[in-house]
Amino acid sequence: MNILAIETSCDETSIALVKAKGNEFPTFTIHTNLVSSQIKIHRPFGGVVPNLAKREHIKNLPVLLKKLAIKISKSKIKNQKSKLQPKNKIENETNTIRALMKKIDVIAVTVGPGLEPALWTGINFAKELAKEYKKPLLGANHLEGHLYSFLLPGKKAISYKLKAKSFPAIGLIVSGGHTMLLVLSSLTTWKKIGETRDDAIGEAYDKVARMLGLQYPGGPEVERVAKIGDPASIKFPRPMLDQKNYDFSFSGLKTSVLYHLRDMTNHEITTPFIIPETQRNNIAASFQAAAIETLVQKTIRAVKEFNAHMVLIGGGVAANKSLANSLKKACKKESVMFIPPARNVITDNAAMIAAGAYINILQKKKRRIVAQSNLTL
Ligand code: KG4
Ligand code: ZN
Repeated sequence: MNILAIETSCDETSIALVKAKGNEFPTFTIHTNLVSSQIKIHRPFGGVVPNLAKREHIKNLPVLLKKLAIKISKSKIKNQKSKLQPKNKIENETNTIRALMKKIDVIAVTVGPGLEPALWTGINFAKELAKEYKKPLLGANHLEGHLYSFLLPGKKAISYKLKAKSFPAIGLIVSGGHTMLLVLSSLTTWKKIGETRDDAIGEAYDKVARMLGLQYPGGPEVERVAKIGDPASIKFPRPMLDQKNYDFSFSGLKTSVLYHLRDMTNHEITTPFIIPETQRNNIAASFQAAAIETLVQKTIRAVKEFNAHMVLIGGGVAANKSLANSLKKACKKESVMFIPPARNVITDNAAMIAAGAYINILQKKKRRIVAQSNLTL
């Protein structure tokens, strides 16, 4: 089945063409996964501005669709020696989009969670395409996209081969808006066992970055300077580690960083705090150590309680090498597999939306095609 997927929930506009097949252990081939990032546009504001995101998505969506269609037509010409010759530019574009849509079995679009104005741009675009080319349209959950991103092949086109004995599995979602632990008894059956009670982990990274005078998006920047800092220099709290549930709380950790900076500089709350680089790097490294220890320990506790055979991770913070290495090490110690997504599908992209939508087809799950900014798992 060929899925055309569209993602516009936050600040990345993305369109992908993914081939999906199989039932119990589905496999995916990414034909194309185009992502247009708006980071540079939002950076001066220190975060995503919803109406700017909407404006950019509206501008980017037709451009990406055209690009995708041209890529497909080029591979078609190469593979099948098509004699299709364009008469003029517009006719050529219309023809290539029509040729692309002929190949599509279903269109999938993110309906939530995310920024409402941004979500609507993708939904409206997808609805128009579905109507014009008479294709079925599926609403997808962005979080399921992150959860199932481990199924997508990386650059070398190899993906993890699922087996019955891969389950039960523990899924950890760590993104800008969510932090969740799930138990999967199969690929299609899962239960949420914990989530953050306040800030998401990515949000905490972004806020700490702002305090430290680092650019948006803060996660990769905190990781960069943490590498050269001392993670043992400040003992920040490990939130909720002593509690026997699987919930998280990162707001207290973020506030500890704030108080530390305030005491250090003798300044009232000012963001960013102006401090020497060595101290900035030490704070970043110590914050990261506290955050990662909390995530890893709760995940491993879940592995033991639910006798899991595999740990999955998804969401933008999964790009953090320190987190991935800590989880890998902890999983190895428990003799469970650790399956991170391929690097090209970790942050927001449409290929993962195709994967989530295909799993929904297997589950016979259907969603309303309206923006659901607070949709959860
Ligand atoms: O999944 P994602 O792309 O978008 C959401 O669904 O939220 O995640 C974005 C989040 C941001 O908070 C960003 O700072 C964080 O992921 N992030 C990272 C890293 N790369 C992205 N956090 C820590 N380390 C990273 N390397
Ligand atoms: Zn995301």
